[in-house]
Amino acid sequence: MTKPKLIYRGEKPNIAEVGTLFESELERKLKSVKFGKYSQIYSFATENLAGYMGDLDFEGKRVLTVGGSGDQIINAYACGASQVVGFDINMLAGFMTELKLNALENLNFGKFKKFFLRETETGIELNPNVFDKSVFNQIRDDLSSEARQFFERGYGWFVEGTMLRESILFNNAYDTNQKKQLANKYISSDEEFKIAKKACRGKETEWHCSSLQEIVSGLKPNSFDIIMLSNIADYAHKIYPDCEDYLQKFTDELINPLSNSICPGGIICAAYIYDVDNSEYRTAVDQPDIRKKIFETTGLQYSELKFDSVIAGQRDAVVLLKNK
Ligand SMILES: C[S@@+](CC[C@H](N)C(=O)[O-])C[C@H]1O[C@@H](n2cnc3c(N)ncnc32)[C@H](O)[C@@H]1O
Repeated sequence: MTKPKLIYRGEKPNIAEVGTLFESELERKLKSVKFGKYSQIYSFATENLAGYMGDLDFEGKRVLTVGGSGDQIINAYACGASQVVGFDINMLAGFMTELKLNALENLNFGKFKKFFLRETETGIELNPNVFDKSVFNQIRDDLSSEARQFFERGYGWFVEGTMLRESILFNNAYDTNQKKQLANKYISSDEEFKIAKKACRGKETEWHCSSLQEIVSGLKPNSFDIIMLSNIADYAHKIYPDCEDYLQKFTDELINPLSNSICPGGIICAAYIYDVDNSEYRTAVDQPDIRKKIFETTGLQYSELKFDSVIAGQRDAVVLLKNK
């Protein structure tokens, strides 16, 4: 069995360019746009993936997903997906995904948690062993040279693993052990960790350093069973800043072309809605009537799954569009 591997398609990360990040103004570069070619990295999913992925049938399925922290990919394999393709506008997300997949292969459950989770087991103090360099050294040789050099530069810049993990490189909002272990079945117990490890072993995961806007233009018909768009729809107004009807445009220009690439019976997880019962709407996708009306223009079958959020007292939802 070979190690899990990311196969970069299309534009590859350019290590000289990545290296310049660390030369000056790292914070400005990473934070100038929320989602750009070089932006802050999600260390773990912010969605409650465990809340809904078990309700979808991933067994033997071909999945296209936002890459992010790598958690969507790991959880999809753990749920039985046969093939997963990741895409992300942020080049650094691919590096994190490589680190996660190879740590999953090389470390046991205890060591994996100690390496990635920000808090100690009690959840009271910050974990002094997070991103321990000696543990990274066990994984580094399995990374692509670009990912390896990126993390080496990170360790060089921030000196201590703890400083690196707490640094501006990562979006650490809501990043508590309890929330991350609720959201991700694969770190909820040793048994689930072993299931994910076995499922990811030897998998070659295609990875596109591309925006969703770029991805949709290159898809072939019938190539996926499940497509997971995370909460990109929350940012439709940023993708189409001059358009009042930004969610409709998002649907016409991005969801519609995706619908051609799913097989009959296939599902697009078109939008993840945080705090779905909150009536203070942030953008159009939070408004139940509007999102239903707009997403139904795709001709796909609309439904919503609602489940507990990882934030106590709240519920989240995922909008499912099914190819009838
Ligand atoms: C939408 S974000 C937010 C975190 C997400 N809810 C999760 O649980 O992982 C996840 C990832 O989507 C990527 N992303 C955001 N907008 C994108 C777009 N238009 N095309 C491709 N990737 C995008 C970001 O770079 C980030 O790594």
